[in-house]
Amino acid sequence: MLTFLCILWFTVVIRLCFSLCLHDAVQRDTQVVSPPDAFTHTRRIVSRATTWAPHLPVRVTPWYLPGESALLTPPQVSQLQTAIKEVTEIISSMLSVRRWEGPLLLNRNMNRYCRSVWGDPSLPNYKRCGSQDSSYYGERCLDVLIPESHLYGYEVWSMNGTEPILQIPDGTGVADTDFLLYVRVAQTKKCALQPVVIAYASYCQLEHTGRPIAGVIVFCPKRLREGVYQHHHIVQVSLHEILHALGFSSSLFEKWIDCSFSEYGDVCSSRSRVTNTDENGQFRIYTPTVMQRMGEHLGVGSTGAPLENQEKSASSHWESRIMQGSIMTASINPPHLTFLDPITLAAFQDMGWYKVNSSISHQLVWGRGAGNSFGLPFTCHKPSDFFCENKSSDIGCHHLHLDKGNCSTDTFLDGCYIYKPLAHGGECWLEKDNAGSEEIYHLQSRCFYSNLTQFSEAVKQEKVKGRCYLHRCLGPNTFQVKVQGSEWTDCPAGEWIHMPGFDGVLLCPDGRLCLGLEKPPLPPSTSATTLTSSIYKPATHRDIRVQVTLMDGFKWTSEMKTILMDEILGIIAHHAGVQRCLLHVSSVANSDLTFTITPEEPSKCPPPASQTPLHELLMNLTDPITYESPQFSYVIIRLLESDSYHYLMNQAALIGGCTCGLLCVLLIISLIWCRQKLRNMQVRDIYNVDDKNIQEDHVAAAV
Ligand SMILES: *[C@@H]1O[C@H](CO)[C@@H](O)[C@H](O)[C@H]1NC(C)=O
Ligand SMILES: *[C@@H]1O[C@H](CO)[C@@H](O)[C@H](O)[C@H]1NC(C)=O
Ligand SMILES: *[C@@H]1O[C@H](CO)[C@@H](O)[C@H](O)[C@H]1NC(C)=O
Ligand SMILES: *[C@@H]1O[C@H](CO)[C@@H](O)[C@H](O)[C@H]1NC(C)=O
Repeated sequence: MLTFLCILWFTVVIRLCFSLCLHDAVQRDTQVVSPPDAFTHTRRIVSRATTWAPHLPVRVTPWYLPGESALLTPPQVSQLQTAIKEVTEIISSMLSVRRWEGPLLLNRNMNRYCRSVWGDPSLPNYKRCGSQDSSYYGERCLDVLIPESHLYGYEVWSMNGTEPILQIPDGTGVADTDFLLYVRVAQTKKCALQPVVIAYASYCQLEHTGRPIAGVIVFCPKRLREGVYQHHHIVQVSLHEILHALGFSSSLFEKWIDCSFSEYGDVCSSRSRVTNTDENGQFRIYTPTVMQRMGEHLGVGSTGAPLENQEKSASSHWESRIMQGSIMTASINPPHLTFLDPITLAAFQDMGWYKVNSSISHQLVWGRGAGNSFGLPFTCHKPSDFFCENKSSDIGCHHLHLDKGNCSTDTFLDGCYIYKPLAHGGECWLEKDNAGSEEIYHLQSRCFYSNLTQFSEAVKQEKVKGRCYLHRCLGPNTFQVKVQGSEWTDCPAGEWIHMPGFDGVLLCPDGRLCLGLEKPPLPPSTSATTLTSSIYKPATHRDIRVQVTLMDGFKWTSEMKTILMDEILGIIAHHAGVQRCLLHVSSVANSDLTFTITPEEPSKCPPPASQTPLHELLMNLTDPITYESPQFSYVIIRLLESDSYHYLMNQAALIGGCTCGLLCVLLIISLIWCRQKLRNMQVRDIYNVDDKNIQEDHVAAAV
């Protein structure tokens, strides 16, 4: 019943609110850490300054925070992991970098761990840290506390000392990684306030050339739930978000570098200016590859690529009016209508940190060859090949002709109207029975403007609308069409034709079909093939319950819980004399700080040295383990046999119930907030506050 209520609220809330991209706002909230400058940390720079390595596919390593899985069931967790894996594969076939040697380690922010710095230039330790800040508790990536093992250590220096006093040694780092992606699933405030948001991301660490090397992606759990989860959607939104974190971010424009004038790319300079406004006040990116690709696309010489204007600055998205269909517009279409376009790839090329595999790119149909004045707020009102008039309430065709569309607009279109795919039932390519009509829904069907009707005595006038008919390609822009009950008929691009046996006419679209510019549409799946994940197996009799006690009065947050569990596994492994990788958290710490671990031998981990079964080794630790944690003060750990099944079930029910209850409360609050917002919102001329126009599926993709 509770679940049902929740779902009901989700639906209501999703329909009421509109979409906004959060990247720019989230990035503003993220503290970004860069490597310490060469002067103060000569040692590190020297040891890390590698000779220029060749470009190799970028390795994005996801790091799942163990504590977060409480909001998802095990199959949902593996669905998410499958989606992220797909995205990291796309990214590594798209981008190459000069790889690190050795494991990736993240930097610490000296302003946070250091209370005082030697400030007299005559001192040998000038600018070095003189004393530690005792309240320092570690580094964050947005709201994720970075595990200590991912960080460089730090040291303090006495006034004249030649050797530093080590405070914490370097962590072990993360192997085979060029970009470390912390993956969080959490019903954050941002998720609650913006119910159409699926995920958001930011970067939090840069390497010495300015390239982001670590970031976080936060998924709002509601879109990962059973019955709601749409695999291709999640893949696409994740890709969009991770591309922001990898560099497509307005906050990084000033960091782009130019490595083009050196044959080996070993001498790079900073770019003087990446963005500027044009004569209409539109922000554009003016870097060589971007300008060239944009010009090629519009069929003009070379021109800057337009960015969405945002409060008098450039945003991290392409302008929606001009770049429909690009993965990097602020409101994204369904996956089969969204592309990794050459202009986005050109931007990655011009960042200077990457080499781009352009064979992965997909030309945009939107605005192709349409010239420099295409898509301007004052030219888009003339009905054209691409824009429609807001008065037309008839069903039309989305510009790729795979779907029927509605003439509508949104905040990013600045008053221009376009055919957006219908929320439901407009997919011509999705096979369905359509008896009693001349339409055909089939993988090879496309949307055509027509008013064809079966020839009959009583001729009634039919309006021309978007309808689904079969097509087959004979050559580029050359095709035939077939309606229910007709023969294949030639359809010359750009002409209206008649069909034998039918009243009315049909328009053959020009420059849209049979050009090899489509992606094969994928059926709307709700789930992907699931990975088997040893971490989330149901509890077995071999599980061990871990009871943690912190010193009285010590406060901890849910993010810190993740770190604590991570730390504790390390301590347990150390005491039992086993490898850390043999231990997995199988249920998450709840408020009494009890969780279960499953000792298991996964294939990745070297087998234990001892012949004694792992379970036994652990259960031999009968005395409580006490240790002093750098972040949690004194910690006491007890290992207990787990009569796990019942215990776990109870926990799961409890967690499930609480989470759902909590979410409901949050959502009711957000619903009230949204209502208020809608009421207060000065209805911008472009935004139509009509529930029905806000098509759930499409706005939901916006991030
Ligand atoms: C470039 O992209 C194509 C198409 O996705 C892929 O087949 C190829 O392996 C990629 N090349 C590299 C070096 O990743
Ligand atoms: C450090 O060096 C300065 C000048 O080199 C000297 O005046 C000072 O006494 C030294 N301090 C200590 C604690 O050795
Ligand atoms: C949008 O499509 C729906 C049918 O899916 C239709 O009822 C509605 O009138 C259309 N709205 C506009 C503005 O064309
Ligand atoms: C179809 O539309 C055309 C153009 O609007 C119109 O001339 C014709 O009469 C219509 N035919 C039928 C059968 O509705």
